Amino acid sequence: MVTKDTVSIDVHKTSHSRISELDFNNISFGKQFSDHMFMADFKNNQWGDAQIVPYGPVMMSPSTSALHYGQAIFEGMKAYKNDKGEVLLFRPLDNHKRINISAERMCMPAIPQEYFLEGLKQLIKMDEAWIPTAPGASLYIRPFIIGTDEFIGVKPSDTYRFYIFTSPAGVYYNKPVKVLVETSFIRAVEGGVGYVKASGNYGRSLFPTKLAQQRGYDQIIWTDARNHRYLEESGTMNLMFVIDDVLITAPLGDTILAGITRDSVLTLARDWKMKVQERKISIDEVIDAHKKGTLDEAFGTGTAATIAPISQIGFEGKDYILPDTKGRIFSNRVAQELENIRKGRAADIHNWMYKI
Ligand code: COI
Repeated sequence: MVTKDTVSIDVHKTSHSRISELDFNNISFGKQFSDHMFMADFKNNQWGDAQIVPYGPVMMSPSTSALHYGQAIFEGMKAYKNDKGEVLLFRPLDNHKRINISAERMCMPAIPQEYFLEGLKQLIKMDEAWIPTAPGASLYIRPFIIGTDEFIGVKPSDTYRFYIFTSPAGVYYNKPVKVLVETSFIRAVEGGVGYVKASGNYGRSLFPTKLAQQRGYDQIIWTDARNHRYLEESGTMNLMFVIDDVLITAPLGDTILAGITRDSVLTLARDWKMKVQERKISIDEVIDAHKKGTLDEAFGTGTAATIAPISQIGFEGKDYILPDTKGRIFSNRVAQELENIRKGRAADIHNWMYKI
């Protein structure tokens, strides 16, 4: 039993590490999972029963409420080893804040900071050997909460489980992405849940994305639900453009996830005295800039994808080819700076790295 702050975590170590199954020279995203996972349960209106156990299947009743009505939220975050071999999390307190924003919207209990952070710290310390150190690689961390009542009436669950597991991760996209502007299906509406990390937001994206992929694109750009003119997010990422040296991205609101990578990129751009605009941007404006030759860069930002350059935008039967990604000044610089901060090679002036 390990006690820290107010959380007592029961630790059951695996008797057989699976780390020898991991090829550190060939890591893809989301396929292999580290040795342990963290769990805590909410019942009688409080969180408790914190434990770390070997990663593996969990028993669940078929009537578990989350499986039916989608009371399921998650986070994506990453741990790194810097050049000194220290283990660091990137902005974990922001993930904690965001999971509780998701929890409120989905009528779920907030997870206290000590559970979130202590669970993370203990788990990642135990499995630190799983953190890859190759450029662009990291340990992807997946905290999530689900409603666990065995009840199929539609109401908020009275019981919940919080899990954290981790997965060594390489790059999410291994080449610049081709995107299609989606003008029939919608991801999010005003008053909806687009701004939270609810599992259903991802499930609903699969069919439109599959249709775009059948047409040769990698991802879609979601547009506003009313007019399908304003560009919102791309796949699982926030979307950014550099037009005439100005960095432009959709403003936060009901339909946009408050991405932590989004915020980090905007913060660095402002540090560098670049002009930044968080405002609506329409497909017409982007096509116009493309015609004028002022559309310098388009890219997605996200925890899993980090900075994903966009090479091509499809809209109404035409494809707009963007400038070669190698010559893109801002996105290459910001991707490198983020990697430098994570590896301890650049000053962490915003205190984003959290040593554990
Ligand atoms: C993340 O970037 O963490 C995401 O949420 C993407 C994930 C769904 C793969």
